[in-house]
Amino acid sequence: MVRSASKTGVLGPRPVAAFGVRAHLSLAELSRGSRALLFLATALAWCSTGAGLILPWVIMGTTAALTRREAVGGPVLWLSALALAAAGCQAGSGWLLARAGEEVVLRLRRRIIDHVMRLPLASLQAQGAGDITARITSDCSLVRAWAEAALVHLPVAALGTAATLTTMAWLDPTLTLLTLGAFAAAGVPLVGVIVRTRRAATAQQAALADLGQRLFATLAAFTPIKAYRHEAMAAERLGHTAARVSTTSTTAARLQSLMGPLVALGQQVAVVAVTVVASQQITAGELPSATFSAFFFLLLYLTSPITVAVLGIGQLRAGRAARARLTFLLGLMTEPAGPPQSSVRPAIATCQEAVSFQRVSFTYAGATPTLLNQSFIVPRTGLTALIGPSGAGKSTVFALISRFIEADEGCIRILGQDISAWRLPDLRRHIAYVDQNASVLEGTIRENLQMGRDRPIREQDLWETLETVGLREAVRQLPQTLDTHLGRGRDLSGGQRQRLVLARALLSDAVVFLLDEPTSQLDDAGEQRVMGALNHLAKTRAVVMATHRLSSVRHAHHTVVITPPALDGRNLSAPLPVGMECAEAGEERLQDRTSPAGVTAMRQTILEAGGAVRRRGRALCRPGQEAGSPPHVRPPPPPT
Ligand SMILES: Nc1ncnc2c1ncn2[C@@H]1O[C@H](COP(=O)(O)OP(=O)(O)OP(=O)(O)O)[C@@H](O)[C@H]1O
Ligand SMILES: [Mg+2]
Repeated sequence: MVRSASKTGVLGPRPVAAFGVRAHLSLAELSRGSRALLFLATALAWCSTGAGLILPWVIMGTTAALTRREAVGGPVLWLSALALAAAGCQAGSGWLLARAGEEVVLRLRRRIIDHVMRLPLASLQAQGAGDITARITSDCSLVRAWAEAALVHLPVAALGTAATLTTMAWLDPTLTLLTLGAFAAAGVPLVGVIVRTRRAATAQQAALADLGQRLFATLAAFTPIKAYRHEAMAAERLGHTAARVSTTSTTAARLQSLMGPLVALGQQVAVVAVTVVASQQITAGELPSATFSAFFFLLLYLTSPITVAVLGIGQLRAGRAARARLTFLLGLMTEPAGPPQSSVRPAIATCQEAVSFQRVSFTYAGATPTLLNQSFIVPRTGLTALIGPSGAGKSTVFALISRFIEADEGCIRILGQDISAWRLPDLRRHIAYVDQNASVLEGTIRENLQMGRDRPIREQDLWETLETVGLREAVRQLPQTLDTHLGRGRDLSGGQRQRLVLARALLSDAVVFLLDEPTSQLDDAGEQRVMGALNHLAKTRAVVMATHRLSSVRHAHHTVVITPPALDGRNLSAPLPVGMECAEAGEERLQDRTSPAGVTAMRQTILEAGGAVRRRGRALCRPGQEAGSPPHVRPPPPPT
């Protein structure tokens, strides 16, 4: 059963089909913006063909003049000028067509990249980054070749063939019929070759995409591959995939290589047949030698447009396969942006709840339920610890709040508003999300900190925030400090990356902070410092932190326990007093998180720990900082 998001906030199971409006990628659409160039390229190609068709008449005149022993200076001059004009027009046409082709492929790539950026996370993961890369690179190039063949090569070749055959028929219908017969005989196997071209091209492109995907995934796991001496095995697996690319490419190349020779065969058969019959006609005085030389020139000339047409049909079929793959990609549904105009007016100043889950259930495709009937509330301000066994669904809860995925059932409210009523950009502007892997963008530190901000952040704010998370000194020591490029060759340590992504979140104007294990890679001093900053932030914002570390949990004001589906969403959430310290003995019980009994015990531990609280009398602050001098955190945005 398929149900969609309702106004009440009950989100039904997601749509089964992941397709949006079908993209057509028609020639008209692809050529929009480059039509003038394409028109000029076609016009020049026709001029070249026209010049080639006039040549036989000049040849006829020259031959006749030679027979009459007249001077041939003029006709030879004409011949040279026409040959030069034909070559010039062909070169000009090729250049303009290349420029138009580049424009077409650039627009197509931009459109696909834009579409891919708006895909839901699950679609991207299902499709595979390597596969998408292959589509954006090789498939787009094939579609460009397809568009060039369909818009220019084939029409010019068809017109050239028709004009040449008409001229030949006008010169000698019998020889023309002979020529057509010879080409038709060679054309029979050609039809079979062309039919198989598309299948071969489809297999070749699928194999290329598979290689791209496997390569991408293998290189992403390069460190463990080295650590476990898996290089040879990984190379062998990639080698198998590469061999499949090679096999399919060989089939495609074999078909491609048959096309030219089959046309040439037709031409040779035609040359032999025409020469034999024409010799008899010339001997019988039925065919003037000047007419024969013009006809023979046209016969040789005919091969060129026919070859272009046959290769063009091959490109057309290969391109159609690539177009089908791109159409599929463009047909994948993008993230629902929500209502066009924001109907949400969150009363940030007065709102009591930052996040509310009411009997929310979610199941990943093809899996058993991850969340079942989960209900909890995250208060508008304060530090909330999201705890639960590994695999319980904490990161999934964050993904639901950020609307990376949508709940199958239940109601989610963000800042008092139904999640489906939010416009996606508005929703995400109110949320700062630090993912569990502390993902850093390939780019400079400044670019990483600037993510999500429309206007440049003041240099002083950047440094103060880096100081807050304890990264200032490390960045100052980098050769280009804030402008150090991360990604290729230079990287931060795991803990430094965690501080960087935390600084990025602190620099945002968000109201709800979702931090997925933000201290998992920090040392004790680093954790204390970060927790101090989060505590200060929590005075005005809702800070939700998924964590397994008791030392972090004890800073929390509230807890939310994500329970396994076996517990059917039994509410284990509990408020915690500010600055509590858990009893040491409780720590062991926090580790037993894999069974329903373990989770119940964890909740008991937290409550007991709450009873053993020693109130500190002041908010936590970072080392060396007195209470009352808060860490650098941007002020909350004005209520909207
Ligand atoms: N993209 C996905 N597709 C299918 N199943 C997934 C996906 N992501 C997570 N899961 C499954 O959903 C369950 C919850 O995963 P999640 O990452 O939310 O757990 P978690 O509580 O954050 O765990 P941890 O504490 O280890 O980070 C797990 O059983 C996991 O295998
Ligand atoms: Mg997780």
